[in-house]
Amino acid sequence: MQNILSPSILAADFWRLGEEISAVERAGAKVLHIDVMDGVFVPSISFGMPVLKSIRKRTDLFLDVHLMIQNPENYVEEFADCGADLINFHLEAARDPAAVLSLIRARGKKAGITIKPGTPVSAVEPYLELVDMVLVMTVEPGFGGQALIPECLEKVRELRDMADRRKPELAIEVDGGVKPSNLAAVLEAGANVIVAGSAVFGGDAEEKARDFIAKMAD
Ligand code: DX5
Ligand code: ZN
Repeated sequence: MQNILSPSILAADFWRLGEEISAVERAGAKVLHIDVMDGVFVPSISFGMPVLKSIRKRTDLFLDVHLMIQNPENYVEEFADCGADLINFHLEAARDPAAVLSLIRARGKKAGITIKPGTPVSAVEPYLELVDMVLVMTVEPGFGGQALIPECLEKVRELRDMADRRKPELAIEVDGGVKPSNLAAVLEAGANVIVAGSAVFGGDAEEKARDFIAKMAD
């Protein structure tokens, strides 16, 4: 399965957002990770629909939207219409995850379920047939720049084993604290979509993204 970098713009310089996105495009990134926080499901607030819409107008990158919001059922259609290609929502935040997945699919978008560090892999098992991706958080969602929790990689391993048996094409995304120094361990655990925020942005994003992509191809 191909390894994919999904740079998280949460760590970008928003004054220069267009330049930051162009930099990772030049480095060869094909995907962009968009972190939406509502101040309810997570303690912080990031950005929402208008930002997504502006990005969509100017790039063909695949937009991987990570909704850290309560009651995602109320918002997924609007995020789809603003230009998301894939919508990830938190299992812990949805009353009826299967219904949320149907809403995303009805808009013709790819759908993913995300789990926090304390949520077991067994919780996503009932939805495996309905998702394109499972996002395993390796930090508590809410802030960039935290350290990866190594125990979460055991969950990635468990999920990859489950996927090998039941859905080999499942994309497994890891988000939180990924750096060039722990990338090999994350890939080895079975993730194939790698989010990196502070390790890509906040400096020379082109060079840092290029370095990640080269390491992921090894
Ligand atoms: C955290 C977000 C992450 C964040 C990752 O809640 O979901 O996507 O941007 O940032 P780093 O890579 O700095 O941990
Ligand atoms: Zn994220």
